[in-house]
Amino acid sequence: MFDFTGKVALVTGSGGGIGLATAKAFAECGADVALLDFNPALLETAKPEVEQYGHKVITIQCDVSKADQVDAAVKQTVEAFGRLDILVNNAGITRDNLLLRMEESEWDAVIATNLKSVYLFSKAVNI
Ligand SMILES: NC(=O)c1ccc[n+]([C@@H]2O[C@H](COP(=O)([O-])OP(=O)(O)OC[C@H]3O[C@@H](n4cnc5c(N)ncnc54)[C@H](O)[C@@H]3O)[C@@H](O)[C@H]2O)c1
Repeated sequence: MFDFTGKVALVTGSGGGIGLATAKAFAECGADVALLDFNPALLETAKPEVEQYGHKVITIQCDVSKADQVDAAVKQTVEAFGRLDILVNNAGITRDNLLLRMEESEWDAVIATNLKSVYLFSKAVNI
């Protein structure tokens, strides 16, 4: 349906779930892909799934809530591929609970992973 030949896509949280499915869709449409997750075991199993479409794939271990790791991940992608065209801010967590029972640490983790990461990545790729 789409042709992303020659394009490079970085998908956060692509060790599994929707992120992996998105990464596979980009590869199927011709893109080279940077898989990014904080779980290295997931990255290891995800890589061959995306490589099956015949395009270049790299894996990056990164916590999307940490500015230094985000900056390094974008740098690593550009060094590997020479460009970065598409960013998918997919990584996210849930800590479902009634507000009154929610720990402050849970609130902070959700905001850092789901919201701050979008700020960090959107800023880092704008180079
Ligand atoms: N599944 C749903 O029904 C649904 C509905 C609405 C929104 N979403 C959102 O879609 C996104 C993906 O959902 P999913 O169901 O595939 O989730 P998932 O839990 O299956 O996958 C999320 C991935 O993100 C990674 N991740 C989590 N925290 C990270 C961090 N700090 N740094 C790097 N990687 C991290 C995990 O290791 C995992 O591989 C999330 O943002 C989620 O909130 C999902």
